[in-house]
Amino acid sequence: MIQNLKKDVRVKTLYKWAGAKNRMIKKYENINAFPDSFVNYHEPFFGAGAVYTKYWNKGDGKECYINDSNRFVMGIYRAIQGNVFDFVNSAKELQEEYLSSPKVTKEMKSSTEYQVTRDRMFVCKRRGYLTWEEIYNTKYRGRESFYYKVRDRFRQEDYSDTPSVKMVQSASDIYFLINTCFNGVWQDSSRSHFSTPVGLMNQASKFVNEENILEWHNALSKTKISDGDYKDTIENVGKGDFVFLDPPYRSGKDVTTHADYGTASDDVFQHEVIKFALECDQRAAKVMLANRDCGDDFFKKAFEEYPQFNIKYIDTNYTMGTARNKKDADGNKVKDTRGNIVKDKKITKAREVVIRNYE
Ligand SMILES: C[S@@+](CC[C@H](N)C(=O)[O-])C[C@H]1O[C@@H](n2cnc3c(N)ncnc32)[C@H](O)[C@@H]1O
Repeated sequence: MIQNLKKDVRVKTLYKWAGAKNRMIKKYENINAFPDSFVNYHEPFFGAGAVYTKYWNKGDGKECYINDSNRFVMGIYRAIQGNVFDFVNSAKELQEEYLSSPKVTKEMKSSTEYQVTRDRMFVCKRRGYLTWEEIYNTKYRGRESFYYKVRDRFRQEDYSDTPSVKMVQSASDIYFLINTCFNGVWQDSSRSHFSTPVGLMNQASKFVNEENILEWHNALSKTKISDGDYKDTIENVGKGDFVFLDPPYRSGKDVTTHADYGTASDDVFQHEVIKFALECDQRAAKVMLANRDCGDDFFKKAFEEYPQFNIKYIDTNYTMGTARNKKDADGNKVKDTRGNIVKDKKITKAREVVIRNYE
């Protein structure tokens, strides 16, 4: 374990993640959703681990179990746990190479020169004349070609059962990609995993927070990491433990889920998660299940026969897509009284459901 870190440093999530609960934590705390005490901490649908960042050191047993079926993101935590300095160095190298290429501003993107260069890059790639690595090394050296070079390397590797050097490379590649991709969202295509295009390419500041990564290393020294199906984690659950279940959102009749983790999030899946919650309850663990309420009492009905579970609802908003500049009827940007440009986000009102077997 690395010592001498500032005592008040808290772990912060390492990347944006669809469905991450960063903004929900305060709302959960407002309804006292988390247990006052528990033995070990479990998070079988880890994502970016927003709740873990607050609660990993609150248990009496001080043992944590984290899992997500996305083995690539869990590889980031494995690398930080086992090879933190190699990981930091590798991530910093990627960051430096990316940031040392010029920023791409909106104006540049609309210039003919940029459009022509971009078209040439993509034609070379599509017709198989050059790989992204060759494009980056010999033709068009820039943030965009660097991103695609790293993305290709990441997608071509088979990281199962690989030595730690490759594991660190994979972990720092995906850490770099999630921090520079479009909207920070993981997308899979039918042909390959991680097909998210490059992001805005206008970052000016560093995104590798070394102090935070070292703090993660400390937290992970008390944490068991796995990357399988959540059901396989039941054996770790014991009496008095806290299990935070945050599966992919349920899609209702009128509400579709926008996070695509490559798994089904239909009602069969949700019923299995409920079964898992009941199994944790039988093991005398404290369970908290979070999901979206689609207005059809799905969860209320599912837990009807289990009075030890209580249900609470929290009103919230989901922001869809990227914020654009709000325009008036003449197409001019709208400014507020302080002269700031007003952003026009598509906000959808929603209700979250929180189900627990403790008060
Ligand atoms: C709503 S997100 C969790 C977000 C997380 N609580 C946070 O705050 O960052 C749901 C997660 O479940 C994972 N997942 C989907 N199906 C799974 C399965 N069968 N077993 C384990 N994890 C799964 C997805 O990869 C995704 O990261």
